[in-house]
Amino acid sequence: MPEICGIELDHPVINASGTYDAIAAQAVFGDAVLADFPFSAFVSKTITPEPRAGNAPRRIWETPSGMLNSIGLPNKGLEGFLAEDLPKLRELPVPLIVSIMATTREDFAHCVERIARRREVAAIELNVSCPNVHSGLIVGENPSETEALLEVLRPVTEKPLIVKLTPNVADAAAVAAGGERGGADAISLINTLKGTAVDPATGGPALGNGYGGLSGPAVRPVALEQVRSVRAAVSLPIVGMGGISNGADAAEFLALGASIVAVGTENFRDPRAGARVAAELESTLRLERSATLALDLD
Ligand SMILES: Cc1cc2nc3c(=O)[nH]c(=O)nc-3n(C[C@H](O)[C@H](O)[C@H](O)COP(=O)(O)O)c2cc1C
Repeated sequence: MPEICGIELDHPVINASGTYDAIAAQAVFGDAVLADFPFSAFVSKTITPEPRAGNAPRRIWETPSGMLNSIGLPNKGLEGFLAEDLPKLRELPVPLIVSIMATTREDFAHCVERIARRREVAAIELNVSCPNVHSGLIVGENPSETEALLEVLRPVTEKPLIVKLTPNVADAAAVAAGGERGGADAISLINTLKGTAVDPATGGPALGNGYGGLSGPAVRPVALEQVRSVRAAVSLPIVGMGGISNGADAAEFLALGASIVAVGTENFRDPRAGARVAAELESTLRLERSATLALDLD
Protein backbone atom coordinates (compact mmCIF):
# COMPACT_ATOMS: atom_id res chain seq x y z
CA MET A 1 0.00 0.00 0.00
CA PRO A 2 1.39 3.47 -0.85
CA GLU A 3 2.30 5.73 2.03
CA ILE A 4 3.96 9.05 2.77
CA CYS A 5 5.66 9.70 6.13
CA GLY A 6 3.83 6.70 7.60
CA ILE A 7 0.41 7.93 6.40
CA GLU A 8 -1.20 5.01 4.57
CA LEU A 9 -2.92 5.91 1.30
CA ASP A 10 -5.37 3.97 -0.86
CA HIS A 11 -3.45 4.97 -4.00
CA PRO A 12 -0.46 7.19 -4.82
CA VAL A 13 -2.33 10.27 -6.16
CA ILE A 14 -3.10 13.31 -4.01
CA ASN A 15 -4.02 16.89 -5.04
CA ALA A 16 -1.59 19.78 -5.42
CA SER A 17 -2.31 22.61 -2.97
CA GLY A 18 -4.67 25.31 -4.27
CA THR A 19 -5.98 23.37 -7.26
CA TYR A 20 -9.01 21.56 -5.82
CA ASP A 21 -11.48 23.16 -3.43
CA ALA A 22 -12.98 20.20 -1.54
CA ILE A 23 -15.43 22.40 0.35
CA ALA A 24 -16.77 24.03 -2.84
CA ALA A 25 -16.91 20.63 -4.58
CA GLN A 26 -19.03 19.22 -1.77
CA ALA A 27 -21.28 22.29 -1.80
CA VAL A 28 -21.89 21.88 -5.54
CA PHE A 29 -21.92 18.10 -6.00
CA GLY A 30 -23.08 17.02 -2.54
CA ASP A 31 -21.98 13.99 -0.55
CA ALA A 32 -21.20 12.05 -3.77
CA VAL A 33 -17.84 13.86 -3.64
CA LEU A 34 -17.12 12.31 -0.25
CA ALA A 35 -18.35 8.85 -1.25
CA ASP A 36 -15.96 8.73 -4.19
CA PHE A 37 -13.21 11.22 -3.35
CA PRO A 38 -10.70 11.50 -6.21
CA PHE A 39 -7.53 11.81 -4.09
CA SER A 40 -5.97 9.50 -1.49
CA ALA A 41 -5.14 12.48 0.75
CA PHE A 42 -6.28 16.09 0.63
CA VAL A 43 -3.86 19.04 0.72
CA SER A 44 -5.48 22.34 1.69
CA LYS A 45 -4.98 25.65 -0.07
CA THR A 46 -2.05 27.46 1.58
CA ILE A 47 -3.11 29.18 4.82
CA THR A 48 -1.34 32.32 6.10
CA PRO A 49 -1.38 33.73 9.67
CA GLU A 50 -3.68 36.62 8.68
CA PRO A 51 -6.50 36.69 6.07
CA ARG A 52 -5.44 37.67 2.55
CA ALA A 53 -7.60 39.05 -0.27
CA GLY A 54 -5.29 37.78 -3.04
CA ASN A 55 -4.04 39.64 -6.11
CA ALA A 56 -5.86 42.02 -8.42
CA PRO A 57 -7.60 40.37 -11.40
CA ARG A 58 -6.97 39.02 -13.98
CA ARG A 59 -5.61 36.04 -12.05
CA ILE A 60 -5.56 33.25 -14.65
CA TRP A 61 -4.17 33.20 -18.21
CA GLU A 62 -3.99 30.20 -20.50
CA THR A 63 -0.61 29.52 -22.18
CA PRO A 64 0.63 26.84 -24.61
CA SER A 65 0.22 23.54 -22.73
CA GLY A 66 -0.11 25.37 -19.45
CA MET A 67 -1.59 28.12 -17.37
CA LEU A 68 -0.31 31.20 -15.59
CA ASN A 69 -1.88 32.12 -12.27
CA SER A 70 -1.39 35.03 -9.94
CA ILE A 71 -4.03 34.09 -7.39
CA GLY A 72 -1.96 35.54 -4.54
CA LEU A 73 -2.98 33.09 -1.80
CA PRO A 74 -6.41 34.48 -0.88
CA ASN A 75 -7.45 32.71 2.34
CA LYS A 76 -9.31 33.22 5.61
CA GLY A 77 -6.17 33.28 7.70
CA LEU A 78 -5.21 30.78 10.39
CA GLU A 79 -8.08 31.45 12.80
CA GLY A 80 -10.71 31.56 10.03
CA PHE A 81 -9.38 28.28 8.65
CA LEU A 82 -9.46 26.56 12.05
CA ALA A 83 -12.96 27.81 12.87
CA GLU A 84 -14.71 27.53 9.51
CA ASP A 85 -12.85 25.21 7.11
CA LEU A 86 -11.26 22.57 9.32
CA PRO A 87 -14.64 21.31 10.68
CA LYS A 88 -15.71 20.71 7.05
CA LEU A 89 -12.41 19.23 5.88
CA ARG A 90 -12.40 16.74 8.74
CA GLU A 91 -15.43 15.10 7.07
CA LEU A 92 -13.27 14.08 4.09
CA PRO A 93 -12.72 10.32 3.88
CA VAL A 94 -8.94 10.73 3.39
CA PRO A 95 -5.99 12.02 5.48
CA LEU A 96 -5.72 15.81 5.63
CA ILE A 97 -2.50 17.74 4.95
CA VAL A 98 -2.60 21.46 5.75
CA SER A 99 -0.41 23.81 3.70
CA ILE A 100 0.92 26.92 5.44
CA MET A 101 3.06 29.95 4.64
CA ALA A 102 4.35 32.83 6.78
CA THR A 103 6.95 35.54 6.48
CA THR A 104 8.71 35.04 9.82
CA ARG A 105 9.91 31.87 11.54
CA GLU A 106 7.86 32.83 14.61
CA ASP A 107 4.66 33.11 12.56
CA PHE A 108 5.40 29.79 10.84
CA ALA A 109 5.93 28.20 14.28
CA HIS A 110 2.66 29.67 15.57
CA CYS A 111 0.74 28.21 12.60
CA VAL A 112 2.41 24.80 12.99
CA GLU A 113 1.65 24.75 16.70
CA ARG A 114 -2.04 25.68 16.28
CA ILE A 115 -2.66 23.31 13.36
CA ALA A 116 -0.66 20.33 14.67
CA ARG A 117 -2.79 20.34 17.84
CA ARG A 118 -5.79 19.22 15.76
CA ARG A 119 -6.16 15.46 15.62
CA GLU A 120 -7.76 15.56 12.17
CA VAL A 121 -4.53 16.93 10.64
CA ALA A 122 -2.20 14.15 9.44
CA ALA A 123 0.70 16.33 8.22
CA ILE A 124 1.72 19.91 7.48
CA GLU A 125 3.10 21.14 4.17
CA LEU A 126 5.39 24.18 4.38
CA ASN A 127 5.05 26.43 1.35
CA VAL A 128 8.47 28.10 1.38
CA SER A 129 8.05 30.20 -1.79
CA CYS A 130 7.90 33.25 0.46
CA PRO A 131 10.28 35.93 1.74
CA ASN A 132 11.61 35.95 5.27
CA VAL A 133 10.85 39.58 6.19
CA HIS A 134 13.93 39.71 8.42
CA SER A 135 16.48 38.57 5.84
CA GLY A 136 14.59 39.60 2.68
CA LEU A 137 15.51 36.21 1.17
CA ILE A 138 12.95 33.84 -0.35
CA VAL A 139 13.18 30.94 2.11
CA GLY A 140 12.87 28.18 -0.48
CA GLU A 141 15.52 29.72 -2.73
CA ASN A 142 18.12 29.39 -0.02
CA PRO A 143 19.39 26.14 1.60
CA SER A 144 20.41 27.76 4.91
CA GLU A 145 17.12 29.72 5.24
CA THR A 146 15.22 26.47 4.66
CA GLU A 147 17.37 24.57 7.15
CA ALA A 148 16.99 27.32 9.78
CA LEU A 149 13.20 27.38 9.33
CA LEU A 150 12.99 23.61 9.82
CA GLU A 151 15.21 23.81 12.90
CA VAL A 152 12.66 26.17 14.46
CA LEU A 153 9.61 24.13 13.40
CA ARG A 154 10.91 20.63 14.10
CA PRO A 155 10.62 20.84 17.91
CA VAL A 156 7.07 22.25 17.65
CA THR A 157 5.42 19.02 16.44
CA GLU A 158 5.98 15.34 15.88
CA LYS A 159 3.59 15.43 12.93
CA PRO A 160 5.22 15.05 9.51
CA LEU A 161 6.56 18.27 8.00
CA ILE A 162 6.65 18.30 4.20
CA VAL A 163 8.72 21.04 2.53
CA LYS A 164 7.15 22.25 -0.74
CA LEU A 165 10.00 23.52 -2.89
CA THR A 166 9.92 26.30 -5.44
CA PRO A 167 11.44 25.43 -8.83
CA ASN A 168 12.69 29.02 -9.28
CA VAL A 169 16.21 28.15 -8.14
CA ALA A 170 19.51 27.10 -9.67
CA ASP A 171 19.91 24.11 -7.36
CA ALA A 172 16.71 22.59 -5.94
CA ALA A 173 18.70 19.63 -4.57
CA ALA A 174 20.75 21.93 -2.32
CA VAL A 175 17.54 23.44 -0.88
CA ALA A 176 16.06 19.97 -0.34
CA ALA A 177 19.24 18.96 1.48
CA GLY A 178 18.83 22.03 3.72
CA GLY A 179 15.31 20.85 4.54
CA GLU A 180 16.57 17.36 5.33
CA ARG A 181 19.31 18.69 7.64
CA GLY A 182 16.71 20.81 9.44
CA GLY A 183 14.54 17.74 10.15
CA ALA A 184 11.89 17.68 7.38
CA ASP A 185 10.05 14.40 6.82
CA ALA A 186 9.38 14.75 3.08
CA ILE A 187 9.89 17.05 0.11
CA SER A 188 7.20 18.02 -2.37
CA LEU A 189 7.97 19.64 -5.69
CA ILE A 190 7.48 21.56 -7.88
CA ASN A 191 5.55 24.73 -7.16
CA THR A 192 4.87 27.01 -10.17
CA LEU A 193 7.60 28.50 -12.37
CA LYS A 194 7.71 32.29 -12.54
CA GLY A 195 6.27 33.52 -15.84
CA THR A 196 4.31 36.25 -17.53
CA ALA A 197 2.34 37.04 -20.70
CA VAL A 198 1.16 40.09 -22.60
CA ASP A 199 -2.53 40.56 -23.34
CA PRO A 200 -2.73 41.14 -27.12
CA ALA A 201 -5.91 43.17 -26.63
CA THR A 202 -4.17 45.82 -24.50
CA GLY A 203 -0.44 45.34 -25.08
CA GLY A 204 -0.10 45.31 -21.28
CA PRO A 205 0.47 42.52 -18.76
CA ALA A 206 -2.10 39.74 -19.01
CA LEU A 207 -2.19 39.31 -15.22
CA GLY A 208 -3.23 41.99 -12.74
CA ASN A 209 -0.12 41.32 -10.70
CA GLY A 210 2.18 41.71 -13.74
CA TYR A 211 3.51 38.17 -13.46
CA GLY A 212 2.45 34.80 -12.13
CA GLY A 213 3.30 31.12 -11.87
CA LEU A 214 3.31 28.67 -14.75
CA SER A 215 1.85 25.18 -14.29
CA GLY A 216 0.43 22.36 -16.40
CA PRO A 217 1.99 19.99 -18.98
CA ALA A 218 4.51 22.63 -20.12
CA VAL A 219 6.39 22.40 -16.80
CA ARG A 220 6.59 18.60 -16.56
CA PRO A 221 10.14 18.15 -17.92
CA VAL A 222 11.39 20.80 -15.47
CA ALA A 223 9.58 19.07 -12.60
CA LEU A 224 10.97 15.66 -13.59
CA GLU A 225 14.53 16.95 -13.66
CA GLN A 226 14.11 18.57 -10.25
CA VAL A 227 12.70 15.33 -8.83
CA ARG A 228 15.64 13.41 -10.33
CA SER A 229 18.23 15.79 -8.85
CA VAL A 230 16.52 15.99 -5.44
CA ARG A 231 16.26 12.16 -5.34
CA ALA A 232 20.03 11.96 -5.85
CA ALA A 233 20.69 14.44 -3.02
CA VAL A 234 18.35 13.43 -0.17
CA SER A 235 16.88 10.25 1.24
CA LEU A 236 13.51 11.80 2.20
CA PRO A 237 10.34 10.64 0.45
CA ILE A 238 9.27 12.88 -2.44
CA VAL A 239 5.79 14.01 -3.52
CA GLY A 240 6.25 14.66 -7.25
CA MET A 241 4.09 17.11 -9.17
CA GLY A 242 4.12 19.44 -12.15
CA GLY A 243 2.06 18.89 -15.28
CA ILE A 244 0.66 15.47 -14.46
CA SER A 245 -2.49 14.85 -16.51
CA ASN A 246 -2.54 11.07 -16.93
CA GLY A 247 -1.19 7.81 -15.53
CA ALA A 248 1.83 7.71 -17.86
CA ASP A 249 2.89 11.19 -16.66
CA ALA A 250 2.57 10.03 -13.05
CA ALA A 251 4.62 6.89 -13.77
CA GLU A 252 7.52 9.08 -14.96
CA PHE A 253 7.67 10.77 -11.53
CA LEU A 254 7.63 7.42 -9.72
CA ALA A 255 10.34 6.09 -12.05
CA LEU A 256 12.58 9.01 -11.06
CA GLY A 257 12.13 8.37 -7.35
CA ALA A 258 8.94 10.09 -6.20
CA SER A 259 7.03 8.03 -3.60
CA ILE A 260 3.64 9.49 -4.56
CA VAL A 261 2.41 12.18 -6.96
CA ALA A 262 0.07 15.17 -6.88
CA VAL A 263 -2.27 16.42 -9.61
CA GLY A 264 -2.80 20.19 -9.94
CA THR A 265 -3.77 22.11 -13.07
CA GLU A 266 -5.47 19.05 -14.61
CA ASN A 267 -8.14 19.31 -11.88
CA PHE A 268 -9.48 22.47 -13.53
CA ARG A 269 -10.12 20.52 -16.75
CA ASP A 270 -11.30 17.32 -15.08
CA PRO A 271 -12.37 17.44 -11.41
CA ARG A 272 -12.17 13.61 -11.32
CA ALA A 273 -8.56 13.68 -12.58
CA GLY A 274 -7.15 12.30 -9.32
CA ALA A 275 -9.14 9.05 -9.53
CA ARG A 276 -8.55 8.75 -13.28
CA VAL A 277 -4.78 9.25 -12.98
CA ALA A 278 -4.69 6.68 -10.15
CA ALA A 279 -6.54 4.08 -12.28
CA GLU A 280 -4.36 4.78 -15.34
CA LEU A 281 -1.23 4.61 -13.22
CA GLU A 282 -2.30 1.25 -11.83
CA SER A 283 -2.67 -0.23 -15.34
CA THR A 284 0.59 1.41 -16.54
CA LEU A 285 2.47 -0.17 -13.63
CA ARG A 286 0.72 -3.53 -14.18
CA LEU A 287 1.82 -3.49 -17.85
CA GLU A 288 5.39 -2.59 -16.83
CA ARG A 289 5.42 -5.44 -14.30
CA SER A 290 4.22 -7.99 -16.88
CA ALA A 291 6.79 -6.71 -19.40
CA THR A 292 9.57 -7.15 -16.82
CA LEU A 293 8.27 -10.61 -15.96
CA ALA A 294 8.19 -11.58 -19.65
CA LEU A 295 11.80 -10.37 -20.04
CA ASP A 296 12.86 -12.37 -16.95
CA LEU A 297 11.26 -15.51 -18.40
CA ASP A 298 12.97 -15.08 -21.78
C1 LIG B 1 -4.57 28.15 -9.48
C2 LIG B 1 -3.43 27.59 -8.69
C3 LIG B 1 -3.34 27.85 -7.33
C4 LIG B 1 -2.27 27.34 -6.58
N1 LIG B 1 -2.21 27.57 -5.23
C5 LIG B 1 -1.19 27.03 -4.50
C6 LIG B 1 -1.16 27.20 -3.10
O1 LIG B 1 -2.04 27.79 -2.47
N2 LIG B 1 -0.11 26.65 -2.42
C7 LIG B 1 0.88 25.92 -3.05
O2 LIG B 1 1.81 25.43 -2.40
N3 LIG B 1 0.85 25.74 -4.41
C8 LIG B 1 -0.15 26.27 -5.12
N4 LIG B 1 -0.20 26.06 -6.47
C9 LIG B 1 0.85 25.24 -7.12
C10 LIG B 1 0.39 23.78 -7.28
O3 LIG B 1 0.13 23.20 -6.01
C11 LIG B 1 1.48 22.93 -8.01
O4 LIG B 1 2.64 22.92 -7.22
C12 LIG B 1 1.82 23.47 -9.38
O5 LIG B 1 0.68 24.01 -10.02
C13 LIG B 1 2.44 22.39 -10.29
O6 LIG B 1 1.56 21.31 -10.52
P1 LIG B 1 0.57 21.24 -11.81
O7 LIG B 1 1.40 21.56 -13.02
O8 LIG B 1 0.04 19.84 -11.80
O9 LIG B 1 -0.49 22.26 -11.58
C14 LIG B 1 -1.26 26.55 -7.24
C15 LIG B 1 -1.36 26.31 -8.61
C16 LIG B 1 -2.43 26.80 -9.34
C17 LIG B 1 -2.50 26.50 -10.81
